[in-house]
Amino acid sequence: MDPYRVSVAPMMEWTDRHCRYFMRLLSPSALLYTEMVTAAALHHGNHEQLLQYDAAEHPLALQLGGSEPSLMAEAAMLGQQYGYDEININVGCPSDRVQSGQFGACLMASPQTVAACVQAMRSAVDLPVTVKTRIGIDDRDDYEFLTDFIDAVAAVGCRKFIVHARIAILSGLSPKENRTIPPLNYERVYRIKQDYPQLDIVLNGGLETIQQIDLALSHVDAVMIGRQAYHRPYLLSELERHFNPDWSLPSRQEIVQDLLPYIEREVTSGTPLHRITRHIMGLFAGVPGARIWRRHLSENSYAAGAGPEVLLDALTAMSQPV
Ligand SMILES: Cc1cc2nc3c(=O)[nH]c(=O)nc-3n(C[C@H](O)[C@H](O)[C@H](O)COP(=O)(O)O)c2cc1C
Repeated sequence: MDPYRVSVAPMMEWTDRHCRYFMRLLSPSALLYTEMVTAAALHHGNHEQLLQYDAAEHPLALQLGGSEPSLMAEAAMLGQQYGYDEININVGCPSDRVQSGQFGACLMASPQTVAACVQAMRSAVDLPVTVKTRIGIDDRDDYEFLTDFIDAVAAVGCRKFIVHARIAILSGLSPKENRTIPPLNYERVYRIKQDYPQLDIVLNGGLETIQQIDLALSHVDAVMIGRQAYHRPYLLSELERHFNPDWSLPSRQEIVQDLLPYIEREVTSGTPLHRITRHIMGLFAGVPGARIWRRHLSENSYAAGAGPEVLLDALTAMSQPV
């Protein structure tokens, strides 16, 4: 599978390094994104803690939040030093916290600010600098608003736009509501690809099935999958197989076995088991035993000293006749 055709969305609190390691076992080639890391946090904080990851996670993009070009350039340089494959700017998140920091979706109204960031970052690093955005904000749900944004940002060399195909409402809706209430408008994104054939256009928002993804890929260059990849992660393996029929599809049980050495290593170095198992609850979603799997992990991952045996016991519990 071409890694740049399918990606997993940046999701705060969800796509941390443990989640990404697990997703990499499910799909050798999907492009993975980190949670958003703010440029200010990198400037003031502990880089190692914010940027470390396992080499197996490649191809891996670092998502940054911020709007101050010099800080964004500094953050991009750190991302390059740590070996990330792409640096992405968050112009899609509508949370109040993010708006008060003057970044996220509200930046769609300041294309020149985003352009200045892209320019500073592209001068600082050799990596692709990409932008994740919405189709509009508040009452600007028109094509021209989106093209004005893309024109300004593409003019300074951004070649890839990931477009979450709904507007963001900046006041009155929670981030969660902003992922469901504004309607999806894939046609708007398809039109962007038609009008800007030279740009890489990635469709994001509401993709759940292989059929939907195939249809989207007949219009745009790539897709980004968020919630479905988290809640039903085996979809990533099914997609890998769909695009690469020679790849031998691992069973869900094999994925669990493949994860055990990582768990052993992490638990030994002090990571509590539940920080890893919280991301693998959905592995058996939709197949018999899913509830037993979730329940066993939830009830046993918090115990002091819990380790890989919890997963093995969960598999055994699932295979017992009820
Ligand atoms: C828990 C959660 C956290 C998110 N955090 C981020 C984030 O840090 N940066 C970002 O650009 N989008 C974030 N998003 C939005 C997703 O990247 C994606 O655009 C959105 O969920 C729509 O895609 P989906 O319908 O496939 O889930 C988040 C979404 C969820 C569910």
